[in-house]
Amino acid sequence: MSALAGFGRPHRHYRRTDSTNARAKALAESGAPGGLVVTAGEQSAGRGRQGRSWFAPPGTALLYSAVLRPLGDAGLLPLAVPLAVCEACEEVAPVRCAVKWPNDVWVEGRKLAGVLVEGRPEADWAVIGTGVNVAVPLGAFPPELRDTATSLGSGEPPSVADALEALNAALGRWTRASDDEVLTGFRARDALHGRAIAWDGGEGTAAGVDDAGHLLVETEAGTRVLGAGEVHLSVRS
Ligand code: BTN
Repeated sequence: MSALAGFGRPHRHYRRTDSTNARAKALAESGAPGGLVVTAGEQSAGRGRQGRSWFAPPGTALLYSAVLRPLGDAGLLPLAVPLAVCEACEEVAPVRCAVKWPNDVWVEGRKLAGVLVEGRPEADWAVIGTGVNVAVPLGAFPPELRDTATSLGSGEPPSVADALEALNAALGRWTRASDDEVLTGFRARDALHGRAIAWDGGEGTAAGVDDAGHLLVETEAGTRVLGAGEVHLSVRS
């Protein structure tokens, strides 16, 4: 994957901004170096995948965007990033993380972190964005998220600064990993494997990922191959 040496230098922190991904993209467009990290205490327009928004109460989450430059072969980057998030979270809190394809991080079936990678392959850079619920009191999630979201802790949580440091190190490792390492790592944490799922075009049983990182689904009509951008998934059981 990328040949970038590490993340976190330089580091730009905003007490409040619209979206750390938007800030990091603007900085990358004006020539910011690979490894630059943007964080914020609060976002007014946090962006999620598929046009959704991202919610986090001020000061309780790691709101993080990093510039990856050069990009190199980034085919499996969307699977590598949640593996880094899993490792970082497990380093700072007593949790065991899994990945819901393509890149949601789950703990005990609830979403702990989301990942939004926005690339400019023609310019050889991408922004890796993630929001990790570090110390969100469970009652602070909006009602529609209360049954599906979780946090690293609300009693004695780790600090956002410790999570940041762990993530910088883990991303350094996973963005340099080989495709084999990423696929092996992903398959070991695949939260969907064997589960009934549905998407806008059908339903079936999740059967792992192929070597390009696409989701394999066993259906009555045979094996379907789903790309991350194409589908909105729901988990049935
Ligand atoms: C998702 O699960 O939909 C992805 C959520 C990604 C949210 C993070 S928070 C920090 C960074 N800045 C953004 O605007 N989005 C990402």
